[in-house]
Amino acid sequence: MCGIMGYIGMRPALPVLLDGLRRLEYRGYDSAGVAVMNGGRVEVRKAAGKLARLAEIVERAPVDGALGIGHTRWATHGDPSDENAHPHTDCRGRVVVIHNGIIENFLELREELRARDHRFRSDTDTEVLAHLIEEAYEGDLPAAVERALGRARGAYALVVLSADEPDKIVAVRRISPLVVGLGQDETWLASDIPALLPYTRDVLVIEDGEMAVLTRGAPSLVRIGGGPVSRAPFRVDWDAEAAEKGGYPHFMLKEIHEQPRALQETMMGRLPDDREVVLDGVGLDAGAARAVDKVWLVACGTAYHAGLVGRALLERVARVPAEADLGSEFRYREPVVGPRALAVAISQSGETADTLAALREARGQGARTLAVANVVGSTLAREADDVLYTRAGPEIAVCSTKAYLTQLAALTMLAVRLGSARGTLEPQRAAELIRGLRALPTLAQAVLSREAEIVALAERLYATEDVFFIGRGLDYYVAMEGSLKFKEISYVHSEALAGGELKHGTLALVTPGVVVVALATQPDLVAKTASNIQQVRARGADVIGLATEATAPALRPHVDTLLCVPAAHPLLAPMLAVIPLQLFAYHVARLRGNDVDQPRNLAKSVTVE
Ligand code: G6P
Repeated sequence: MCGIMGYIGMRPALPVLLDGLRRLEYRGYDSAGVAVMNGGRVEVRKAAGKLARLAEIVERAPVDGALGIGHTRWATHGDPSDENAHPHTDCRGRVVVIHNGIIENFLELREELRARDHRFRSDTDTEVLAHLIEEAYEGDLPAAVERALGRARGAYALVVLSADEPDKIVAVRRISPLVVGLGQDETWLASDIPALLPYTRDVLVIEDGEMAVLTRGAPSLVRIGGGPVSRAPFRVDWDAEAAEKGGYPHFMLKEIHEQPRALQETMMGRLPDDREVVLDGVGLDAGAARAVDKVWLVACGTAYHAGLVGRALLERVARVPAEADLGSEFRYREPVVGPRALAVAISQSGETADTLAALREARGQGARTLAVANVVGSTLAREADDVLYTRAGPEIAVCSTKAYLTQLAALTMLAVRLGSARGTLEPQRAAELIRGLRALPTLAQAVLSREAEIVALAERLYATEDVFFIGRGLDYYVAMEGSLKFKEISYVHSEALAGGELKHGTLALVTPGVVVVALATQPDLVAKTASNIQQVRARGADVIGLATEATAPALRPHVDTLLCVPAAHPLLAPMLAVIPLQLFAYHVARLRGNDVDQPRNLAKSVTVE
């Protein structure tokens, strides 16, 4: 997720660009840059690091002009560095681009362009777009952009300037957001509304597959490959703080709702067909994959819960022995990690002290290391042999949601990749899983569309003081995550347990009115979970069942309230089942009046032991 800002009008562009980028910093950043048009020349300034560094650079070497674009980068391809910061230019420095998103086929495009003598200055996927537009340019910038994009696959918001047409900004949206701000003889462009609010409240949304050509006057909008589009602007009445949260009351809710897109981005380019999983950044070839004799998954908190699901997937899909452990426990247990082991460290931030220490312990014992991380260039990502980025975008709420879901998607892809490479996963099963993964963003959206049911449930139960989450198999691990979400923001006591363990102690705590959330998404385990439910119901518990459409008929007779997610491949059901639990935790915490985004005593990134 990057921040984009553009301006065309009569004021000096630079202060507008810097101000807009500052307001978009919450989207994450590791470098920033601007390009300003000045008398038929485009001047570019950019630098790794925070915006303050760019501000220092332009202080020393100002850029003048009333038309410009700016970008804060959240790296996906290539480390955060001065060269990889946007904007990027073509060979002659006349075409300038900034981009948010991913160009899936950039490697082949770059090879092709290099063969035609284009010189590349960065490792980014974005730079290929500047060179493609350079080649396609025949005196009409919008037409050249359209032709160039005909070659690129992926999701993006792309903004282009050309010294040959110094009076316009061309912007294209495919999936990644872009909005236009309208003024009197001036126009703004941004990846999100908060950046526009100091200047205008009249906003035009660029929809998927559309191109906007911005000039000082009214912008024109066309559908790529189609005709002109006419759309009325709307007036924004949110305050700046609400706008930063996309109109949601909390970052957590916004991030829960971003999950379909986060899943889509995590899988982008990695599932090219039904046969294979291609993991950029993971150099495990077939020989290395076959040589692995055990996988260790190490992580903390929510990422550990993802690791537990990952362990089950690696065993069941790739048939490789796997073990998940807490970062804080792993190195003190004197683990036996051989040189043929693969240690997978999972972390949103890539900076969690215990996870880093576990990775170093495994590496010290000769294991090959793989980071599943969200923050590009984080310590974990730098230290591991291989990195599989989750591409969830910045997660701001302390309570992790979209990071977890994308970790599960990444670990599923890893399991399929390992299973295929080791010959332990039949092609037909691999195809089922790949198709199942591809369907997830749409199914996750369907789960979110039933939020009203969860709100009603939260309104009924928010005063409760004890909630138990139970499940078996994969459902047990999701129950652990559901319970963690619930306790960390509602401050209500909660425990998760494997259904079969109830009778070994915890049943003593079940008294009339205690809430039990029972997960049953695994068809082969519903009957067993149903008998655990009987045990708690006989003691007066209020049971909320969570099933898929496939398991619902078997679960319905046993529960007081049934929540249902769409039917999915059973091994992928955790990615849908966790969403109602996130929403339940959120709405209970909200109704209790808690600080949802920054729960007491907790921190987003734990960099101490
Ligand atoms: C903290 C956060 C959790 C997170 C855990 C691990 O406790 O509040 O949301 O799961 O750290 O963080 P990591 O960045 O390594 O995923």
